Amino acid sequence: KEISALTKIVILACGTAYHAGLIAKYAIEEWAKISVDVELASEFRYRNPILDKNSLVIAISQSGETMDTLMALRHAKEFGCKVLSICNTNSSTIPRESDAVLYTHAGPEIAVASTKAFLTQVVAAYLIGLAIAQIRGALDEEQVANQYSQLQELPAKIEQILETVEPLRTLTREFTNSSSVLFLGRNVGYPVALEGALKLKELAYMHAEGFAGGELKHGPIALIDKGTPLIAIMPIDPLLNEKMNSNVQEVKARGANVIAIAPEGINVPGATHLIRIPETSPILLPILATIPLQVFAYEMAVTRGND
Ligand code: F6R
Repeated sequence: KEISALTKIVILACGTAYHAGLIAKYAIEEWAKISVDVELASEFRYRNPILDKNSLVIAISQSGETMDTLMALRHAKEFGCKVLSICNTNSSTIPRESDAVLYTHAGPEIAVASTKAFLTQVVAAYLIGLAIAQIRGALDEEQVANQYSQLQELPAKIEQILETVEPLRTLTREFTNSSSVLFLGRNVGYPVALEGALKLKELAYMHAEGFAGGELKHGPIALIDKGTPLIAIMPIDPLLNEKMNSNVQEVKARGANVIAIAPEGINVPGATHLIRIPETSPILLPILATIPLQVFAYEMAVTRGND
């Protein structure tokens, strides 16, 4: 009943969890046809947001203890809205203060950096998006069933990526001394680009930035020099894919060394290196496209001699 009355959703999170929130926005808006705002908890907690009892707040947190996210959640509750959390740590503070929780059950993040937690946060967001779409009648049963079956195929596809990742490890070593690595994505691939860059910063202590493909011409293109490594997350949607391919041509013309993460069947004529991932539905792509980026950051960290 409450979901039927919803007017908007606000997602609050920090860091990697914020990137999961950005992916959630694309998925929930596409499937459930309801407006979703995603906000950095550290910003939200210090401003006057517009919320009411028909807004749903979703707090995403691996630890369930992040102070900015907790304070943002408390701030949101002052407006009378319900809070649903996506959390990895049982009985932590954020789920305890939420009206409902979806636990991600990813196991502890031993090396601090959120990797498996990120992937499960995204899956949790997909499940919420499909549930809301179903309740609101925004997708028919067949469409929902189709997305669920694509979701269920993801674990096997991830195994497949992990089995074929060796060339990526070798390739990573070529870029050990690069001063910066750029990541480019569009649509759901844009938060994936942000996350790829964040993982590289955290693990390899390298300068890295993620950009939306369409923003390239509005400034970031100036950063591209001969040999600059640029990782392009290729979209599945034909129109977006065409746009991304023209971005690849632009950066290549400036000398970038383009590593394309491309689903099967997607051609990337401008790529210097091609990393293949299996096909899936366009919205679910982040789960598969993130894996090579996590491996890239890991391998870079090890090659650079980090603990
Ligand atoms: C990234 C990372 C951080 C956290 C952020 C939020 O690998 O670990 O960016 O994602 O500090 O933490 P949680 O999810 O515990 O609220």
